[in-house]
Amino acid sequence: MIYLDNASTTLKKPPCVIKSMTKLTKQLSANSGRGGHYYSREASMRILDASQALASFFNISSPEQIAFTNNATTALNFAINGFLQNGGHVICTALEHNSVMRPLHRTENVTCTVVEPDKSGIVDPKRIEDAIQPDTCLIICTHASNVFGTIQPIKQIGKICKNHGIVFLADAAQTAGSVDIDVKDMNIDMLAFSGHKGLMGPMGTGGLYVSENVRLVPVITGGTGSFSESLEQPDFMPDMLQSGTLNTPAVASLSGAVNFINSVGIDYIYSHETSLAKLLFDGLKNIPSVTVYATDDFTKRNGTVSFNIYGIDAVSVSQELDEKYGIAVRAGYHCAYSAHKCMGTHDGGTVRASVGFYNNQADIDKLLHAVSQIAKHA
Ligand code: ALA
Repeated sequence: MIYLDNASTTLKKPPCVIKSMTKLTKQLSANSGRGGHYYSREASMRILDASQALASFFNISSPEQIAFTNNATTALNFAINGFLQNGGHVICTALEHNSVMRPLHRTENVTCTVVEPDKSGIVDPKRIEDAIQPDTCLIICTHASNVFGTIQPIKQIGKICKNHGIVFLADAAQTAGSVDIDVKDMNIDMLAFSGHKGLMGPMGTGGLYVSENVRLVPVITGGTGSFSESLEQPDFMPDMLQSGTLNTPAVASLSGAVNFINSVGIDYIYSHETSLAKLLFDGLKNIPSVTVYATDDFTKRNGTVSFNIYGIDAVSVSQELDEKYGIAVRAGYHCAYSAHKCMGTHDGGTVRASVGFYNNQADIDKLLHAVSQIAKHA
């Protein structure tokens, strides 16, 4: 089976992650911050190691400003719902995932401007700046579209936010681990990331970095192991956002994942994934009746490529790829319908192939062969 659904989650994990998960599940399924015994202390140390590894990976000064969550969706909910308690105006892009769109849709006293990308699948930062209103308090932008793989100019958007005194929330679900992120250089105030995609960590991991200058209201409260005599939720990070038992083996294994990426080099990972994606993009373009979407400038893309075969719906293509050719891709709207409305793929969505670190050229050749065969019957 060839796995090309890495935008959803990475199937294959580095050996050090598997080893760490196995070892810690056996030896350290203990509750960090609860109880002063050896196992609890050791769990806290391992979780701190993971925060430190991630902090240095994203150039975050204080590891305690990272709260671990189950995934990027939870991190985005914490950020959006926690920040917008008093309402205000928000700007986001039409490329956002439903993990941004749905929480925004439910907020009260919040108005929202959705800025569309151009036909290349990239949002012009000037359009974001033009949308700023006197009460704009938050700008949200995905670092890369989970549908089209286009990388957004978040450094320029971060600068606009800084110049206007607006908080900037970046969604790094599709980039953490495969595209370099520096929260200081990019002026990111809040960074939501998943641990199980590009970082190649265990499933059920993610996190939210919140800068010291941003005040969130915790939307989930409960036991944190700290100040238990008070009914008030602690107001400091990470306890403020980390109620309940963490998955110690999984969270702790993120430090091995980060070390693995550092040892390979994120620049190498980025160029490996994008060069395979470019081979795929160029090959698909040469197949009659196939349409490939968004820019062909691979300095502005990651490993994700969306396409359609004329006359066959995306879900049928993905089913045939799975059942006849043993190739796993995703089809449909990918939980980001507004992105399809902008790019003209709202009637059925796209077939999405997303390259990961463990893919190679043979995988791409097999997918191209399979698509050309399917297209013959179109
Ligand atoms: N957000 C994930 C995807 O794009 C699940 O497939």
